[in-house]
Amino acid sequence: MGVLVLLFLCVFHGTSGVIYRLNEEEYKRMPPIFRMDPYNSCLQHPSGLYCSVDMTLVSDEPSELLTMIQEYSAHTAKHFNHTRLRYYVCVTDTCNTFYSDDADLTASVERCFNDTLWSEYRLKSKISDSDVILCDRQGESVVISNGELLVAFVITSLIVLNATGTLYGALYVSKKIPENKFLLSFSVPDNWKQLVTPTSYKNQFAARLRGLNGWRSIFMMFVIMAHVILPTVVSLENVHHYEQMYDNLGYHIFFNGGLIIQIFFAISGLLLVYNLLSYSEHNELTWMCLPRGVILRWLRITPPYAIVLAFTATWLRYVGSGPLWKKVVETEVNACQQDWWYHILMINNYIDHSECMPQTWYLAADMQLHILGMIVFIMIKSDRNKKLAMYMMLFMGLMLPPLHTYLQDLNGTLLVSPEVLTTVFKSDPTFNNVYKRGHTNMASFAMGMLTGYYIYYWQRHGFDINKYKKYRIIYWMLIPLDIVIILLATLFYQDRPTASILVRTAYAAVMKPLFSIAVVLLLIGMIFKLENIYRGMFEWSGWNPVARLSYCAYLIHMLPIRWLGGLKTELTYVSFSQMINNSFMIQCITLIAAVPFWLLVERPITRVINHYTSSNKNKVAAKAA
Ligand SMILES: *[C@@H]1O[C@H](CO)[C@@H](O)[C@H](O)[C@H]1NC(C)=O
Ligand SMILES: *[C@@H]1O[C@H](CO)[C@@H](O)[C@H](O)[C@H]1NC(C)=O
Repeated sequence: MGVLVLLFLCVFHGTSGVIYRLNEEEYKRMPPIFRMDPYNSCLQHPSGLYCSVDMTLVSDEPSELLTMIQEYSAHTAKHFNHTRLRYYVCVTDTCNTFYSDDADLTASVERCFNDTLWSEYRLKSKISDSDVILCDRQGESVVISNGELLVAFVITSLIVLNATGTLYGALYVSKKIPENKFLLSFSVPDNWKQLVTPTSYKNQFAARLRGLNGWRSIFMMFVIMAHVILPTVVSLENVHHYEQMYDNLGYHIFFNGGLIIQIFFAISGLLLVYNLLSYSEHNELTWMCLPRGVILRWLRITPPYAIVLAFTATWLRYVGSGPLWKKVVETEVNACQQDWWYHILMINNYIDHSECMPQTWYLAADMQLHILGMIVFIMIKSDRNKKLAMYMMLFMGLMLPPLHTYLQDLNGTLLVSPEVLTTVFKSDPTFNNVYKRGHTNMASFAMGMLTGYYIYYWQRHGFDINKYKKYRIIYWMLIPLDIVIILLATLFYQDRPTASILVRTAYAAVMKPLFSIAVVLLLIGMIFKLENIYRGMFEWSGWNPVARLSYCAYLIHMLPIRWLGGLKTELTYVSFSQMINNSFMIQCITLIAAVPFWLLVERPITRVINHYTSSNKNKVAAKAA
């Protein structure tokens, strides 16, 4: 009897309302969730109306099919919500028997698909009030707003300034006219020279940090690669194949690569402390250094950022069109028009539910951690207390993510599931409460700060790396270890109920710090020349210009991704080679576009700011920040 009950329980547990897998035949019984009518031919028609519509599958009577669809959709880690249909419809063609000019659009479309869904699947559709219908009509007129004119004016002025600066630079060199630092800052050939000259370092100690250029360049490429998948998921042809990609370990480098951004926090903390210590060799760190440091940093980061933001909020709207354009591109344009000032204040990572440049959460978090780091370092005088404060930051940084996870019932790591991807994590609680905040990324930053601190002292007080050379094999294992940590997140995509809160909390507590420990050990080994293989790769001088471009590349890389995503006129057939091709193409476009952006915007503006803020003392402070 006991055995029977147990068996019953097992079977019962197995059928608790979630379907993990369907075979191809069962899968085909579900209505496809994406559908895209031809766009251009639709709008060529004088009265053409093309809309993107989201609707929910419903049924008036009990439906075995709908139950199956709901149960399949309940496995949210890997499956789309198949009760939501995302149709791109030529209303005037597909629904012509239901739609006329004076009819209510929502009701007509609903009736239209009630009809087709009923005849094919015995199901109906419902468009709720929260579902937005985005439409394109033939011959819509464009009204340019004042904001758009202003942005056009600013961008044109920048180009004119660059042209003038270049002309002036040529005259200055040949004719020996008086020097004008402001105009010279905009000389394109001058800036080009700076892009390609090797980085110069103040002393042999600082020169040991040159490998960081390689780190920045390589992992920036990884970040861009991981983002390429974003617009794909709003218009898929082979949905089943995409869902099965989660079973393939290889793809989880794409899916779980979010940890890589921790590398940037560690490097950032390291440089902050290292530079402040170098600065304090010859200068006193007074409390005035704090506002000055913050303002200088903001001045360096914001201008190129503001240009991309301004472009995104205005002219991006006009650089293309297509069935997906409104959903993929204009959603962001509208969000940026509303939320741009959070970005300027760099608090956007504490504002949720905005689709405006979501990738820039990192810049805001990094700025916040920088300010905190500067406070610790400038306000606290004794070395002992500084160290203590950094360890306290580390301790708090270790505690906060698991606390959030536990108290708010979050995922142990950022789950890149299909539905949250379609809105770029906009309402994903794990993304909003742990992934993107400043205080939840403090552990890696504090580890970086401590590393910077120790490196600085070891360099000056002698540090015998030879003692550790016998552990090189362990050192070489650190990169594979980090890859394993990234891949471990597959545990959360398994065909079983969501992991218990304790497992998720433990995962959140352990994995990110472990990843970052490996990163700082790798950095220390590189800086003290523990071995030559990794070091050679990271210290290759070819990374210098790429590293200089990396901030621009980071700022602009979502533009080509969204742009190409918005231009699509067919559903995307996703495959490994498609993803690799796409990612390669986006990397190239981003790097190529970053060059003019760096030359015409980032570099000249930085030079102007340096010029106007530099007495000798500030120059170093600017560097330190
Ligand atoms: C799927 O979408 C429908 C409609 O938006 C929603 O009511 C339902 O809760 C979603 N299902 C899951 C499992 O999230
Ligand atoms: C479509 O079908 C659903 C479910 O039966 C119903 O609620 C809705 O009113 C129908 N829409 C129209 C426009 O008839």
